[in-house]
Amino acid sequence: MLRRVFSLSTLISSAKPSPLLNQVAYGLSFLKAFSTDTLKPVEAGILSKATTPTINFVLGGPGVGKGTQCARIADTYGFTHLSVGDLLRKEISSNSEYGAMILETITKGKIVSSEVTVKLLKSTIDSSKTNRFLIDGFPRSEENRVTYERIIGIEPEVVLFFDCDEEEMLKRVLHRNQGRVDDNVDTTMERLKVFEAYTLPVIRYYSEKGKLYKINAIGTEDEIFERVKPIFAP
Ligand code: C5P
Ligand code: MG
Repeated sequence: MLRRVFSLSTLISSAKPSPLLNQVAYGLSFLKAFSTDTLKPVEAGILSKATTPTINFVLGGPGVGKGTQCARIADTYGFTHLSVGDLLRKEISSNSEYGAMILETITKGKIVSSEVTVKLLKSTIDSSKTNRFLIDGFPRSEENRVTYERIIGIEPEVVLFFDCDEEEMLKRVLHRNQGRVDDNVDTTMERLKVFEAYTLPVIRYYSEKGKLYKINAIGTEDEIFERVKPIFAP
């Protein structure tokens, strides 16, 4: 059962992202945020940033090594690494309003309500002093993506997809010993199913838009990073 390999070889794309289009989209999202009668921002926050943040998304199944590679990309190319899973886990440990719901969802390997996740992401980006972000583990579903477009609305420049077979992902999760509630066989099997059912459609979406860069995630940390470098190298 675990031998299935995602057949996504058609997803590699070489199209260049367009910073100009991003500026236009950001301008439109800014205009949308004003109600006509009051001319006050309907949703303050990210819109208060002086310049449009640069956003890149990083996707891949559980245990594929997104966090490890993101840390290296962030260090080498000057991004702020935001792991959405980490942001959600922080909500649990700070006993926030949504902490109990998030814990239950993560324990089951399901996806947290997009409204909660996107608002959390928005306030994190907005309160950050930096302006270049690598957002790891997001958008996890089409619902995540559409909610992001409604609330934040900045087109990602690059969407990285770390690709690996399910058997290897399960093995890596079970060996990593980070004490996570969801790093067990049952929850990881569920996360793999969720990845296939909900995240692959997002990967297909960005592939069709010419924004997807698929990276073979089998190999050493260094080997994988060598494959990533040309995407960000100036
Ligand atoms: O990315 P990471 O493996 O750290 O995510 C852990 C868990 O956090 C996911 O299995 C999911 O339950 C939750 N999550 C989510 N929505 C996201 C990212 C993570 O619900 N966009
Ligand atoms: Mg992670």
